[in-house]
Amino acid sequence: MTDRAAQLSALLPKVAGDPRGMIAVARQLIAAGDRRRALELAEQVHAMTGGRGEAGVTAAEILSDGVHSWHFVIPFDRARNQAYEQALIRAIRPGCRVLEIGAGSGLLAMMAARQGAHVVTCEADPAIASAARDVVAANGFADRVTVVNKHSTALDADRDLGGRADILVSEIVSNDLLSEGVLAAHEDAVARLLVPGGVVIPPRGKIRVALARDLRNRAKRLTEASGFDLSAFNRLASPSEMIRVGMEQVALCSDPVNLFSFDFASAEPRKAERRELAISSLGGRVDGIVQWIALEMDAVGRYENRPEPGAASCWGALLWRFPQPLETLAGEAVAVGGAHERDRVRLWQQIDLSEAGC
Ligand SMILES: C[S@@+](CC[C@H](N)C(=O)[O-])C[C@H]1O[C@@H](n2cnc3c(N)ncnc32)[C@H](O)[C@@H]1O
Repeated sequence: MTDRAAQLSALLPKVAGDPRGMIAVARQLIAAGDRRRALELAEQVHAMTGGRGEAGVTAAEILSDGVHSWHFVIPFDRARNQAYEQALIRAIRPGCRVLEIGAGSGLLAMMAARQGAHVVTCEADPAIASAARDVVAANGFADRVTVVNKHSTALDADRDLGGRADILVSEIVSNDLLSEGVLAAHEDAVARLLVPGGVVIPPRGKIRVALARDLRNRAKRLTEASGFDLSAFNRLASPSEMIRVGMEQVALCSDPVNLFSFDFASAEPRKAERRELAISSLGGRVDGIVQWIALEMDAVGRYENRPEPGAASCWGALLWRFPQPLETLAGEAVAVGGAHERDRVRLWQQIDLSEAGC
């Protein structure tokens, strides 16, 4: 704790019971770098005010800062929930020990607990860990689910888990599969926190890709506005765009291809990789290449968010737009490249840079 944070802590008895005073101290604690104590105060103010009034709303601002909005979406993805719960039901034997990486709302931990497992779920974010603890208690699972506010790599098998777990479950998969750090977290947890040969859910994840036509006919690029040419700004546009998979925003122009496949049950550090592919077009205009995820939950369970009419998923797909649309014939090969750096993915159209004068 810094000197300033220590001075502020000394003020706490003076502001106890006064929501405005407590919030004022909480804000100063954040400025002094003591987020944990600020969150504790904000939680108290939220409970006192029910989130109402200036102090209540400020408490909610502090508590929600850095909490992704998808936390309020993913529990409604019934296919995702079912894929996880069915795999947990198939794997859990009474009394077995489950480690979850990434508690979030506590949903998967409670699914495991209601199958009779003893669950330790770790959560890196202190506000989320605290809320998950309350959710778990409210659902009557406090005796079977322990929420530990730590990053998984900071867990100690004996101290935090009471010994290595029999099952490792996680849902730390991002739209591009990798950028929430699933590879590093699993490699570490499988090596240190899971019994040898323990069950991993999901044990495998894939990045699937296909050529794609943008059905929105609306490139997210600037052209003319109010008589001005804004196109030089376009170099700041992200090279990938999020696609809602069930909203017919893209049509696939090729069969899907597995770009990369990852073994989440391996402790072996996976190296960065790069691939070049020739993907056979179904014909017509191709605007880019789209990537999505596929999870193997166990020997039989599968989850995939392939973009197609009627698809529903909390995960989006990513469209990597080519510099110019391509008119293709059926069967024509389109050369694309893909790379991952363990925690990020990149796709592109292969071009001959010598022809481009580079
Ligand atoms: C996508 S949410 C999943 C929440 C919940 N398990 C579910 O499936 O509904 C992932 C959560 O894991 C946390 N997280 C990600 N990587 C982590 C790690 N290596 N250790 C601890 N928490 C992690 C994030 O802060 C986030 O709250």
